[in-house]
Amino acid sequence: MNAEQMKRAAAEAAIKYVEPGTIIGVGSGSTTNHFIDLLAEHRIAVKAVVAASAASENRLRQHHIPLTDLNSSGDLPLYVDGADEANRFLQLIKGGGGALTREKIVASASKKFICIADASKKVDALGKFPLPVEVIPMARSYVARQLVRLHGNPVLREGYTTDNGNLILDVHNLQINEPINLERQINNIAGVVEVGLFALRPADVLILAGIDGIKTLTAS
Ligand code: 5RP
Repeated sequence: MNAEQMKRAAAEAAIKYVEPGTIIGVGSGSTTNHFIDLLAEHRIAVKAVVAASAASENRLRQHHIPLTDLNSSGDLPLYVDGADEANRFLQLIKGGGGALTREKIVASASKKFICIADASKKVDALGKFPLPVEVIPMARSYVARQLVRLHGNPVLREGYTTDNGNLILDVHNLQINEPINLERQINNIAGVVEVGLFALRPADVLILAGIDGIKTLTAS
């Protein structure tokens, strides 16, 4: 199985959590794209989907899957999304695709968060993947200086604007020993819209697809 087949296998394993007739949330990225395609292929009659990015919204629209927004839907029973890294507590780094803020909002508004990924995303300690931080454009340099004080090396994602009209700083070389504390610390910097650390609201279920099949981890 190659990486793409593993992503599809993880997405396939998440399909059984979807209850027809409900409104669900979906995130963004290549693994989530497989999930969206499979929703259509299996003809799961969801009532509607709240998408966490414009790209996912477009893909859902192409499949004629009904869309709604979080202001109309209220809280959701289920959110399905990928991740860039996951630890054994199901805490995540997300935002490689830049949709971290909307992803965190939809995850926070959802009862169950199922994270789907290929097995390479599972790590002992978060932080090898540069931590994405969405910032208000005029605060870019100020926020970058504060991130240096936290011993990170922030790098502006060149030529990229988020769906919210903001910038992304990718923070390299962070040692994330206390994910919850770091999430709070970074989110407290003025000018930060959201950090791609999902520790306060980790996943509830992590579905990992590897060469030896599917592993399902739950928060312990
Ligand atoms: C987008 C994300 C994605 O879930 C994350 O980047 C994983 O993407 P992929 O499934 O393509 O590996 O957080 O903001």
